[in-house]
Amino acid sequence: MSTPRIVVTGRIPDSGLEILQSIGEVWAWGDDRPIPTEVRNAQLADATAAVTLLTDQVDVAFLAAAPELQLVANVAVGYNNIDVEACTARGVTVTNTPGVLTDATADLAMGLLLMVTRRLGEGERLLRSQTPWKWGMFMMLGTGLQGRRLGIVGLGGIGVALATRARAFGMEIVYHNRSAADAAIERQLGASLVGLDELLATSDVVSLNCPYSPATHHLIDAAALSSMRPSAFLINTARGPIVDEAALVSALQDGTIAGAGLDVFENEPEVHPGLIDLDNVVIVPHLGSATVETRGAMAELAAKNVAAVLAGRAPITAIN
Ligand code: DGY
Repeated sequence: MSTPRIVVTGRIPDSGLEILQSIGEVWAWGDDRPIPTEVRNAQLADATAAVTLLTDQVDVAFLAAAPELQLVANVAVGYNNIDVEACTARGVTVTNTPGVLTDATADLAMGLLLMVTRRLGEGERLLRSQTPWKWGMFMMLGTGLQGRRLGIVGLGGIGVALATRARAFGMEIVYHNRSAADAAIERQLGASLVGLDELLATSDVVSLNCPYSPATHHLIDAAALSSMRPSAFLINTARGPIVDEAALVSALQDGTIAGAGLDVFENEPEVHPGLIDLDNVVIVPHLGSATVETRGAMAELAAKNVAAVLAGRAPITAIN
């Protein structure tokens, strides 16, 4: 049997690369810039497995360049960058990295929630701009979290981890899902399932934790935003296009909602210019899973999926 050839389309932590190197011949694009398509296609020509990032489009053209491909191991939990149907039709296994980034992403969501409700970004900008200030009873008042309602759209692993954190801050949890969570999880979180309309209309903070798909494209549009409370905040650590960003900018400008904390953007890496100018929005560059430990664990899980499939075993975290 010939040595499998594994193509890694971006820079990943060494711990993942080391596992891959113990399985086969590895070629890795060692740069943070996106891999040029012609370089990628030349490498895919005899690739058995591809390890991809969320910035790669694994589409029909990608598959056409890789006639021997058996597996695409995405180093991300989200896989909206992959045409799973086309992979399945070609007999190519697709895997992702759920679980290992749950805590890091929930921490980030909680961080955005605290930043926007307590106006921390605004406070930091004030000091960094060396604007004169002194303590005042009414200076930069934010919103407390105790007794407030957090509405989670998509109560998967990350949603549950965020709810657990929010409960420790005294928040009440409601959620919207296609189906009800386990009764034990509902009990543990004191959470109840509500319709999306009710969640939007009654929550003080709405957090998006659902996958992106055609069904969730612009789930939060102008109508959804206008059904939220003027005092409410929106947090998005899922995928940018779940929100109609232009509608969000208008809603933040005209006070339809109070603020937003965003880790993801509709046209990443671009950020809507309207968001940059607003004080009631916190924006960070897709940092959900960006801890040393988590990125290492993601690379290792992707590599272990490659090892399993190339050894003829079932993948650990398969999508198709
Ligand atoms: C994922 O894995 O889908 C995250 O967005 C990465 O931070």
